[in-house]
Formats: sequence, C-alpha cells, structure tokens
Amino acid sequence: MNVLLFGPPGSGKGTQAKDLAAALGIPHVATGDIFRRHLKEGTELGLRAKSFLHGGGLVPDSFTCEIVESRLLEPDTAGGALLDGFPRTAVQAEWLLDWLAARGKRVDAVINLVVPDQVIIDRVSGRRACPSCGATYHVSFAPAPGGVCSRCGAAVVQREDDKEFVVVRRLETYARETVPVLPVLRPRTKIHDIAGTGEVSEIRSRIFSALGLS
Ligand code: AP5
Repeated sequence: MNVLLFGPPGSGKGTQAKDLAAALGIPHVATGDIFRRHLKEGTELGLRAKSFLHGGGLVPDSFTCEIVESRLLEPDTAGGALLDGFPRTAVQAEWLLDWLAARGKRVDAVINLVVPDQVIIDRVSGRRACPSCGATYHVSFAPAPGGVCSRCGAAVVQREDDKEFVVVRRLETYARETVPVLPVLRPRTKIHDIAGTGEVSEIRSRIFSALGLS
C-alpha cells in the first residue's frame, strides 16, 4: 500500500507519521528527513540540498525524484511506503504516478492535512528538534524536558528553516509549487481532506477513521 501524507510545512505530517506507518505496516519515508540526514553527515547530496532547505525553497525535481527512487528500490518498501513531503510539485507527482504504474502499483490514498497559516507559524516557530535522533518537540505544546531529547538525551535545537521569515517563505513555496499537486492526484487516487487542528490524538483518530484503521 502506498499512502501520501500531504500538507503545508508544520501541518503535523511528521507527528502523525509514526503511528500511521506502524498501523499500515509500511516504512515512513520523509524526503525532508533524508535531506537533513545528508546535511548532517556532510555528504555531497547534503551540500547540494543545503541552500534550498535553509532558504525555504524546494530541492530540484530531478535530484529529489532520484533520491526517492533509490529509497523505493530498497527491499523494505517492496510492500509500499508512507511518503511524507513527496510529491511536492506537479512534476514529482506525475513522476511518482508513472513510476508506480510501471511496476503495477499506485497511490492508494492521500491524507491532506488542512491547517490555517497562522496556526502553522505558531507551531513551526516553536518547534525544537533533536539533531541526533530526529524526535520533534514544541516549546509550548510538547516541550523537551530541560531542553533535552527524552528519547536519546541530546540537546534539542531550532531547525534553521523554522525561523519565522523562512517559514513564511516555505508557506509561499507551498502555495505556488505544492498546492498544484492536488489536481494531478485527484483523478487518480482518493484524497482525504483532514482538519489538522486540535489535539494530536484527535487528528490521529480522523486519519485512522478515513483510512478504515482502528
Ligand atoms: P520537510 O522536512 O518535509 O518540511 P515540511 O513539509 O516543511 O514539514 P515540517 O517537517 O516542517 O512539518 P510537519 O508537517 O512534518 O509538521 P510536524 O509534525 O513536525 O522539508 C524540509 C525542506 O526539505 C523543504 O523546505 C525543502 O527544501 C526540502 N524538501 C523536502 N521534500 C522535498 C521535495 N519533495 N521536493 C523538494 N524539496 C523538498 O509539526 C510541526 C510542529 O507542530 C512540531 O513542533 C509539533 O510538535 C507541533 N504539532 C504537530 N501537531 C500538533 C498539534 N495537533 N497541536 C499542536 N502542535 C502540534
């Protein structure tokens, strides 16, 4: 089963992904996490992606599709994947639909998290992330006790692209480049529009119920 987690930056895709991937029994594949891991490890790929990530723009399509393809060719994704943050342009969406179709597969469902811009700015500017294991926190809603990751003990930090002026740019990029993905997907798969506001557990229930999970 291939499921897409879609929505603006800070809409809660990463927060919802872990439980959802576990319930569906498929790996969580997040392009942002892949790029950040390369950045942290100082690989050539990370250096190529750095200016796009830090500036709030998108990494070029050819480069991004190449990375997703190599991840989708790994054995653990043979039964499908929960794609988070991909596709993010109409070109990426067409590429994914064609790539899956060539292998007798498809996008089975899309979870589209709908969240107003001001809620996103509040969420993202308060987000703190663990540079070691990737766990995320929020200064008000889900603080890291003592500023330390409760999973691995590293000091949590603010992501470079979570500064408010970059978040505003990411929202503009989303409206211009990513919203046009929906009309590409709509005729070819089921899109579930889910209100992404409220408690994390409420949103989880809405997603599970839309997908018929318990
Ligand atoms: P990426 O990492 O994918 O960033 P994003 O889509 O902008 O998503 P975020 O990680 O910011 O947010 P999220 O929706 O996962 O929200 P979260 O759950 O963390 O991409 C980063 C960059 O990589 C892009 O800008 C681009 O440069 C590049 N990139 C990635 N994919 C690409 C692609 N396909 N093509 C080209 N370039 C690509 O939640 C946010 C905060 O809110 C957290 O603090 C969380 O604790 C809190 N929160 C979550 N839910 C709730 C709730 N219900 N109530 C209160 N707080 C909540």
